[in-house]
Amino acid sequence: SSDKKLKDPIRIVITGAAGQIAYSLIHQICSGDVFGQDQPVILHLLDITPMMTVLQGVVMEIEDTSLPLVKGAIPTDDLETAFKNVDVALFVGAMPRKEGMERKDLLSANVKIFKSQGTALDTYANKNVKVLVVGNPANTNCYILAHYAPSIPRENFTCLTRLDHNRAKGQIASRLKVSPDAVKNVIIWGNHSSTQFPDVRSATVTIHGKETPVYEAVKDDNWLKNDFVSTVQKRGAAVIAARKLSSAMSAAKAICDHMRDWWHGTNENEWVSMGIISDGSYDIEKGLVFSYPIEIKNGKLSIVQDLKMDDWSRELIDKTQKELVEEKNDALKATDPE
Ligand code: NAD
Ligand code: LMR
Repeated sequence: SSDKKLKDPIRIVITGAAGQIAYSLIHQICSGDVFGQDQPVILHLLDITPMMTVLQGVVMEIEDTSLPLVKGAIPTDDLETAFKNVDVALFVGAMPRKEGMERKDLLSANVKIFKSQGTALDTYANKNVKVLVVGNPANTNCYILAHYAPSIPRENFTCLTRLDHNRAKGQIASRLKVSPDAVKNVIIWGNHSSTQFPDVRSATVTIHGKETPVYEAVKDDNWLKNDFVSTVQKRGAAVIAARKLSSAMSAAKAICDHMRDWWHGTNENEWVSMGIISDGSYDIEKGLVFSYPIEIKNGKLSIVQDLKMDDWSRELIDKTQKELVEEKNDALKATDPE
């Protein structure tokens, strides 16, 4: 045994644990990359009954990694076993989008899943559980989950837009031929869908030690307002068209970035994008799960305030908000049909 002083293990549930995102995700969590090298983990791996044999194989592989931070891996198709006393809940499991579908086409199938899992989360999880919804439509699934888990604080619910955030950084970096970590403070506003608004109006790039606004460095407003925006908006569909499967490696990496920042905090004067339950900031309907620029300190998420809006950005933000209001209303109808 090592001399390292380890913390008490945390319990992490991953839903859709037999799927492709989970297959990329589990190793990164077990290696200490996300929650820290001094943080042991017990994994609760939920999938549906027909996937239990596959899931057994995943558990064998977890054992075969011989990673010292893993203190248990529990495969299950039972909601109580899955959610009992969990500290972190990663909702990856859902029906994925196929070529030609929009993410909202998945709504009726997935809303039912998130209603029953929300109820189980409310009943069995620790009350301080940190929740991340990945399964699509991610914002609206998160809305339904939170709706059916009323005893868990609203600020503990998030959905994944970090993949879009990373895509935006990647597009700017490749355009400027710099490393992606030279680019900071991009923002994804709104829905994890083709109406999202990837916004680089406050983003900067550091080249040879000098920090410059992205708009000044790129010197092509037309590209930034058109091709850049649509490339990021449609990137998920482009990956599906090429792979015939939705993105998984990059999604798993984004999940790790999201949770690592939530756990350990963001850097000074730097923000990330996360879908959270809106408090009404930037005139977004209160209660909607909306992606905002977020700073994190001591585990507390706060929305970056007072960023400038112009007519162009306001219009894009209103458009993605409108889509989320419609999705939410459809989802509520699908769970509560009276
Ligand atoms: P996948 O089909 O490979 O895996 C999904 C797994 O979920 C399957 O094993 C399936 O059996 C399981 N599942 C289905 N219903 C379940 C239920 N009720 N309870 C527990 N498990 C259940 O799909 P994937 O590629 O891993 O993608 C998972 C989800 O993540 C999809 O909805 C996909 O669209 C979404 N996604 C979101 C983002 C994002 O940025 N927010 C990025 C990529 C993918
Ligand atoms: C993505 O953004 O890659 C995922 O949400 C998958 C999809 O449906 O686009």
